[in-house]
Amino acid sequence: MNEIEQMDQQYVFGTWSFQKNVHPKQIVAAEGVYFTDAEGRRYLDFSSQLMCSQLGHKNERLNRAIQAQASKFAYIAPGFTCEARAKLGKKLAEITPGDLCKTFFSPGGTEAIEAALMIARWFTGKQKIISRYRSYHGSTCGSIALTGDPRRWATEPAIPGILKAPDPYEYRTVFGSVMKTLDYIDEMLTLEGDTVAAVIVEPVVGSNGILVPPPEYLPELLRICHKHGALLIADEVMSGFGRCGEWFACDLWEVVPDIMAVAKGITAAYLPLAGTIVNEEIAAHFNDNFFNLGHTYSGHPMTVAAALETIQIYEDEQLIPAAKRKGNYLLDKLRQLQARHPCVGEVRGVGLFCGVELVKDRKTKEPFDEYGVKVKGGPSVLAQATGKALAGGVYMVGMINTLIIAPPLIISEAQIDEGLRGLDQALSWVDTLVD
Ligand SMILES: Cc1ncc(COP(=O)(O)O)c(C=O)c1O
Repeated sequence: MNEIEQMDQQYVFGTWSFQKNVHPKQIVAAEGVYFTDAEGRRYLDFSSQLMCSQLGHKNERLNRAIQAQASKFAYIAPGFTCEARAKLGKKLAEITPGDLCKTFFSPGGTEAIEAALMIARWFTGKQKIISRYRSYHGSTCGSIALTGDPRRWATEPAIPGILKAPDPYEYRTVFGSVMKTLDYIDEMLTLEGDTVAAVIVEPVVGSNGILVPPPEYLPELLRICHKHGALLIADEVMSGFGRCGEWFACDLWEVVPDIMAVAKGITAAYLPLAGTIVNEEIAAHFNDNFFNLGHTYSGHPMTVAAALETIQIYEDEQLIPAAKRKGNYLLDKLRQLQARHPCVGEVRGVGLFCGVELVKDRKTKEPFDEYGVKVKGGPSVLAQATGKALAGGVYMVGMINTLIIAPPLIISEAQIDEGLRGLDQALSWVDTLVD
């Protein structure tokens, strides 16, 4: 480690880690789909950092919009407004599905989910929320309680009233079919009586394995929720803003949730911004009921200016249909890799949101890593695989036995091929560990 990296290690907490294992790499430059470390090594960004850098790095047009807002004024309190905030609110009402119409702005996905949880409780007058096991919804007490993955364990019991449902995980479901898990949720809602405010789902599950449900799943879940007087909250923090080849994953199946949470791609990660968007009925409810939420940085002018320009760039450069096209190319190529590598159990994905699940044994589907290995601190084949890819010049995120391939929407087919070569090499190493 160089001097900066050592200083960082000493004075700054690494996220989600045993601190003794944190070895931060200093990044000195980033442009397009590449970033460069302090030793001059260049990496292809095959996961858009944390599945958020939709426009890649150093987008000049977006940088100019941020600078323009900074030169007018950087901040005013949320009680005032500015042109970009009003226009962004209107734009979100236009591009989100159905009658989603009014946004509460917050600094990050976690806070957007926390707000969704509270709004659902206030609107319905009910307290319980159903979420799913294979999910991540954020790191504060409420959002980590909604989270199903092992990151929740250390904080439990975080808040009361959160119930967990099974997942749309066709490859590993113990229910025989994913649609059967909806019968289970239906049954849960019946047996809980009229006490459940909402069901929250990632329409396409992100960090818990890129789980794409069958087309009839989400429309049926919405129907079940409404039959029982529960709201459907769509967590589109990772799946939104073109990631799945549509504005939002819900658009894949023309589903209109009651509440939607967005973040990440809303500014292509150039500045931290998130939003909780509600339908007309919920918005109207708060005309005469106190809206008990706020942040110093709610609708921070710099961030909303960045978001407005980001959305304009998605539109002008037609990046969302391009993501669908390039996603098909990527998925096709990943399936070809699957055919050649026995360590690949399954390839899944939609748009530029793909997952490669690694297994020790294709027949038994036995994973390499113990569930929760990251929080328990054991050895991890997945972490070694992403390390091998990085050493070969390709950055990708690995979560719970799945490599996440989610490049910036601006990536070219030639750059996809370059990333796939790095993945190919990493998979060849994993193949040597197959039973
Ligand atoms: C689906 C989902 N929801 C919520 C969050 C939390 O967002 P943030 O990390 O911006 O707080 C994430 C973060 O990855 C996410 O993927």
